Amino acid sequence: MATRLFEGKAHASIYQRYRFAPPQQLRDAVFAYLASKKVSSFRLAVDVGCGSGQSTLWLAERFEKVVGTDISDAQIEEAKQAAHPPNVSYLVCPAENLPFEDGSVDFIFSFAAVHWFDIPRFMKEVERVLTPSGCVVLSTNCLDMQVCYKDCTEKLTEIFQEFRKQTFKYANDKVRCIEDEYKMVFDAMLFQDKQRVMDIYGTVPFTVSTVLGYFQSFSMYQTYLKDDPEAAKALVQNTEKRILEVMGVSSLETPLEIRMRHVAVLGCKKS
Ligand SMILES: C[S@@+](CC[C@H](N)C(=O)[O-])C[C@H]1O[C@@H](n2cnc3c(N)ncnc32)[C@H](O)[C@@H]1O
Repeated sequence: MATRLFEGKAHASIYQRYRFAPPQQLRDAVFAYLASKKVSSFRLAVDVGCGSGQSTLWLAERFEKVVGTDISDAQIEEAKQAAHPPNVSYLVCPAENLPFEDGSVDFIFSFAAVHWFDIPRFMKEVERVLTPSGCVVLSTNCLDMQVCYKDCTEKLTEIFQEFRKQTFKYANDKVRCIEDEYKMVFDAMLFQDKQRVMDIYGTVPFTVSTVLGYFQSFSMYQTYLKDDPEAAKALVQNTEKRILEVMGVSSLETPLEIRMRHVAVLGCKKS
């Protein structure tokens, strides 16, 4: 079954401000894969579950036309309002019912989203809409992130893990699919020609302020916020205080980084 989260306006606006594009290492892995599969048609790419569009734009460098799709009106509204090149457009639609002709899409991408879909139904749509030699890459960042700043990485990572632990009871069961590192996604993919890569690393630049925004964009934090707003806000305040103390700085604009590992399930319709 598909799971409906992320749809409120406030959550979509947090997404627009704090989510990030897939790191260069993942983009390189995608294009290397397409080259290895001798993909020669770059007419249409679709980013399914595109949220506010951060995972969509990079595809516009190579594809003639890119469509970002999402089930949430609020997320698509944010995506449409953000700057995007003329070959990128956005559509509200469920991943399980994509408004594309049979055999018309060269490449399907999805980042940090597939685990929310009805996976078996989505996989049938992938098979239906891809061209005969089309490819698909379904990726997410894993849960073992490191928050890095000078020699404080261990302590900052611990603070992040404690934040996650305190909000984890609000995590939807779908998050298990990430804990499982997309094995379920790999198993559900209908193509014979498929692989799962689990060691794509990337570093995303943040500041103390944007890292706190990123933590608040997690669906489990948003659920906590609805259930117990005072406790959820206190958690953010306390986390901010601890981060600044550990880093020995006072400015929320101080830069830091998150090092992330990504898993990707890659498949090609032509076997
Ligand atoms: C964690 S966000 C990731 C968004 C974006 N890909 C990114 O990297 O920032 C997951 C997105 O999947 C969307 N979503 C969830 N279930 C969906 C479904 N069944 N069909 C289409 N989109 C869905 C949500 O609305 C949300 O925008």
